[in-house]
Amino acid sequence: MNPKYGLPKNLMGWVDANRASLQPPVNNAALFPDGNYIINMVGGGNTRTDFHDNPTEEIFHQIRGTAYLNIWDRGKFERIDLKEGDVWLMEPHLQHSPQRPDPDGLCFLVEMKRPKAAIDSLNWYCPQCASLVWGASMELTDLVADLPRTFKTFYALSDAERTCKHCGTVHPGKDYAAWHAIRQAHA
Ligand SMILES: [Fe+2]
Repeated sequence: MNPKYGLPKNLMGWVDANRASLQPPVNNAALFPDGNYIINMVGGGNTRTDFHDNPTEEIFHQIRGTAYLNIWDRGKFERIDLKEGDVWLMEPHLQHSPQRPDPDGLCFLVEMKRPKAAIDSLNWYCPQCASLVWGASMELTDLVADLPRTFKTFYALSDAERTCKHCGTVHPGKDYAAWHAIRQAHA
């Protein structure tokens, strides 16, 4: 027989062969790109300041290293740690910002192809007061291509466009270290 999605593969062998794709700035690659699940391996060393609102569930399995999710929930920041070996099913619409400081980290991540008309959003929140600074919504068709396009749009905004209307703080755009520094100072 000739299985539609190929034969089983050794997970860590696949990681070794795709190591370049797991590093910044892309950080993730699809293990079985033709199936109906979105099955990605995510590497480490990312620098994200966005919060992702996914209309469907996500399954996390932190295979190596530690990571955490910054969560935005009803106007407040929270944090969920992903320790090495942890597995977790995340509900739809929990706004999360994956922080993967470990450059050798590996996370096996399963998402669903979005049902028709389901909307993903990427939101950027003020690190001082957690108000929404800017966001974009989209019908997501290609996880690896669609999200970076929105990142670029946000990063290209002026300081004035990235200024929080609630407290006047300028969101530092893609400078994630600056975002975290302001956030920590006001935690
Ligand atoms: Fe603010």
